Order: sequence, then C-alpha cells, then structure tokens
Amino acid sequence: MDILAIESSCDETAAAVVRDGREIISSVVATQIEEHKLYGGVVPEIASRRHCESICAVTAQALEQAHTSAENIDAVGVTFAPGLIGALLVGVNYAKALAWGLGKPLIPVHHIRGHIAANYLAYPELKPPYMCLVASGGHSHIVEVRDYTDFAVIGKTTDDAAGECFDKAARAMGFPYPGGKYIDEASALGDPNKYTLPKPHTARPYDFSFSGLKTAVINLIHNANQKGEEIDANALAACFQKTAGEILTDKFIAAAEEYGYRKIALAGGVAANSGLRARLALVSSEHGMEFFVPPLSLCGDNAAMIGAQAFYEYKRGNIADESLNACATMAIDARCY
Ligand code: KG4
Ligand code: ZN
Repeated sequence: MDILAIESSCDETAAAVVRDGREIISSVVATQIEEHKLYGGVVPEIASRRHCESICAVTAQALEQAHTSAENIDAVGVTFAPGLIGALLVGVNYAKALAWGLGKPLIPVHHIRGHIAANYLAYPELKPPYMCLVASGGHSHIVEVRDYTDFAVIGKTTDDAAGECFDKAARAMGFPYPGGKYIDEASALGDPNKYTLPKPHTARPYDFSFSGLKTAVINLIHNANQKGEEIDANALAACFQKTAGEILTDKFIAAAEEYGYRKIALAGGVAANSGLRARLALVSSEHGMEFFVPPLSLCGDNAAMIGAQAFYEYKRGNIADESLNACATMAIDARCY
C-alpha cells in the first residue's frame, strides 16, 4: 500500500510516499528555518504563509521522485495534531481536498505518533510493544507503545520541552535558532565537567522539568557578564548537553526497567543529539536492552514518518472524512475526528 503523506505542523513543509509503513519511496522536506532564524524562533503567521506557497510543489516533487502520480497512490495521510494551528490547517486542507478529489481514504496522523514511527522506517524488525522516549521542540514524553496505535504516556515535561530548553540555552549562549545542533557541535570541543548544572526535581518520578536547567544556564551567563568574566562557551555547551542527556536517559531507563520493557526507542528532533544517542546506547546495553534510534535524516520533522504511522492508523480503521479539523494540542492517546 503506497501512502502519500503530508506534514506541515511547524516550520517544515514535507511530503513523502511510503510503502506498507516501512519503505520510503520518496521524501521531500522544504525547511523555513533560515527565515525564522531572523526572529529567533518560529513566527506562526510566516510559517502558515510559506506552507501555502510550498505545499503543491513539495507534493508534486514527492510524487515525481517516487515515479508515480496522485492517481496511483492508495491513501493520503496528514499530520492533523498537535502543532501550530495555522500551519496544520494548510496541510489538513490540502490533504482533504486531495483525498476527496482522488476518491482515496484520508488518514489523520498525530505528529508525535509519527516521530515514533520514524523507527519503523529504519528497523524492519521493530514491532510493539516497546517503550519510547520522544524529545522534540514541543514535547518530552516517555511513552509505552503497547501497539502501533495504542499508547500510554508514563511521564512528560511539567514545563519546557527538551528541545525548547536546548534552544533557549543556546540562545543565551549566542547561538542562532534552533540552537540544539549548535550546542551539539560546540559540546565536542568543551570540557563536560567544567560547570555544575542542576537536575530539577519532579513530583512524579518519570516526569521531566527543564526550566530550572535553562534558568541555571542563563543565570550563569548573566553572573559572569556582570563580573566581567569570560564564559567558556564550548564547556558550557558540553556541560548542558551532558546534564540534559543524563536527565532524559536516567528517567527513561528507570521507567523502562520498572515497566519491564527490554526494547526501547528514541524519537523526535532531539534524538539527533550525539550525546543523548551515545549515552542511551551505552546505558541500554549495560541494562541488556535493545535500543532503536532513527537515522539523523528521520529525527527532525519529515513526512516519511507520517506515512509510516498512517499505514498502521489505516489498518486500525482510523480514517477521517471531510469534517477532519486540525488541533493545536492533543494527547498522543486521544482522538478528535
Ligand atoms: O521534532 P522537531 O524537528 O520539531 C518538533 O516537533 O518540535 O524538533 C526540533 C527540536 C529543536 O528544538 C532543535 O533544536 C532540536 O530538535 N534538535 C536538537 C538537535 N537537532 C535538532 N537538539 C539537540 N541536539 C541536536 N543535534
Ligand atoms: Zn516534530
């Protein structure tokens, strides 16, 4: 089954053709990052406008690269929640019109479910149940993937998401938006033990809290500036990356142990972080767990991951009609269509 998938929840307009949930036939991502960089973050109105301008060309390119045409695809999948509402609406309306015009099924896909499904494209052998850590610009979740469309959230952030914390700390360090990858690059050059940063406490053991870590980085930089002291930016990046990686890894592994999972996966934009990938690979092997993580090309937002999840939503009968709407917020285990 070939699914044409569309993703437009934030600042990437993406389309892909995915076969049977596992094979990428084509994948096109048009990023708007250079424009949002000017403002230090995503400007929702600009994002929506750029999606409108790009979506037809990106979809045509995905079909062309797959050497197919819209008539030959079997269904249309689309990210409908969560995300920037104006941005989501562009993809949802485009996909609705396409599916209706072609007389093909329309499959709504939750963005975070899509991030998790990126792993199916890289590992043909990966099947639920397993536990997944999803760390992105908007979410930090420990999720039980009980089945392809059956999820339970074990823990989540009580304030900032992991990627948001990376981006805000990076901004304080003087890096451009989105700063996660700049922290990653600088970390390779710095001493990860030079500064001590806090690991904020949470009332529930598998929840996360990142705002205290972010504030500690900002305060450290302000205090140094006030005293006229030089900050070792590479060392601060390395200490931040190490601390964030330890918070995420330690809670995730403890949750997997408690819930009895021997298979674990990582997903979301922050899954691209080299420190987090290395630490999870090491700690999971020490615990005798099998560890899955998507290649870098599938960690950030893309439509291939939406096409992968769409296949399993379709098999489950999760098909929408023209009344499908976009939702800015939505739990991974809810449905609103
Ligand atoms: O999943 P994603 O592309 O978009 C959302 O759904 O939010 O995640 C984007 C986030 C940004 O915060 C970005 O800084 C972060 O992923 N990110 C990284 C790295 N690459 C991207 N964070 C840490 N290290 C990286 N190498
Ligand atoms: Zn995302």
